[in-house]
Amino acid sequence: MGADLTTPAARAAYFTEENSIDTVNARMAKTVDPRLAEIMASLVKHLHNFARETELTQEEWEIGIDFLTRTGQICTQERQEFILLSDTLGLSMLVDAINNRRPQGATENTVFGPFHVEGCPVRQMGDRICLDGKGESCLFIGRVLDLDGNPVAGARIDVWSDNAEGYYDVQQPDIQPKWNNRGVFVTAEDGRYSFIGIKPVSYPIPDDGPVGKMLASLGRHPFRPAHMHYMVRAEGFQKLVTHTFVGGDPYLESDTVFGVKKTLVAPFTRVEGDETLWRSDYDFVLARPDQTR
Ligand code: BEZ
Ligand code: FE
Repeated sequence: MGADLTTPAARAAYFTEENSIDTVNARMAKTVDPRLAEIMASLVKHLHNFARETELTQEEWEIGIDFLTRTGQICTQERQEFILLSDTLGLSMLVDAINNRRPQGATENTVFGPFHVEGCPVRQMGDRICLDGKGESCLFIGRVLDLDGNPVAGARIDVWSDNAEGYYDVQQPDIQPKWNNRGVFVTAEDGRYSFIGIKPVSYPIPDDGPVGKMLASLGRHPFRPAHMHYMVRAEGFQKLVTHTFVGGDPYLESDTVFGVKKTLVAPFTRVEGDETLWRSDYDFVLARPDQTR
């Protein structure tokens, strides 16, 4: 005779295809931290429903496990393939959006990416950040403002971009000078910033691992449209992590990590007869901690 499954406790004790979610979640101790319990219960629910909806075969499940195994195995101190996976599935951008709901007029956030380095030297306004002499010079200029249009003094603007060949200095430590195409600038009372970098170029994210294979098998390219990274921090304001994108870039509408927002596409105009070849004007508008949507 089979087990008596008439009570909820008995139904939760024995696993069936129909009650799988409840059975697994019922095993969680009542003392588990409520937020952990909420996240794990939801994860189990969606994972089980995913397998149910797709009628996942044993072979497909093994391919998935093998993919996740290879994703873990390629991770090192310098390479984080799981974040790349999250980025290319749009999860990083969704988490970023959920956690940075700002009012109209405030500059929007986008993905941080793996290439920021803490500790870059502070430079003087107007300084050059391109140290390898490659690429087309570009003046980046604008202001840091609050939502009422007042200048923000003492804002620390951390900038970083790839070089003219599409690589960050940390990807080529033996080729590029340290801190190439990076700088930190601090605004004065007028909130103004300016520096000379290069007009960034589009580049592929590291695609020689499992995530690159996944993109190829989905008919997707690994490219990001050309962009300059910014992290702007100022006392009394929300931290802003963003990029400006080069208007007209062919990958604007197919960024492999979904980082582009319309408001972040900046003008890049050619300056004739000046020492810089290009100029990009962009104002950053910071929100205070209580200014959310
Ligand atoms: C980046 O823009 O630096 C980046 C963002 C996400 C994944 C890889 C690179
Ligand atoms: Fe980047």
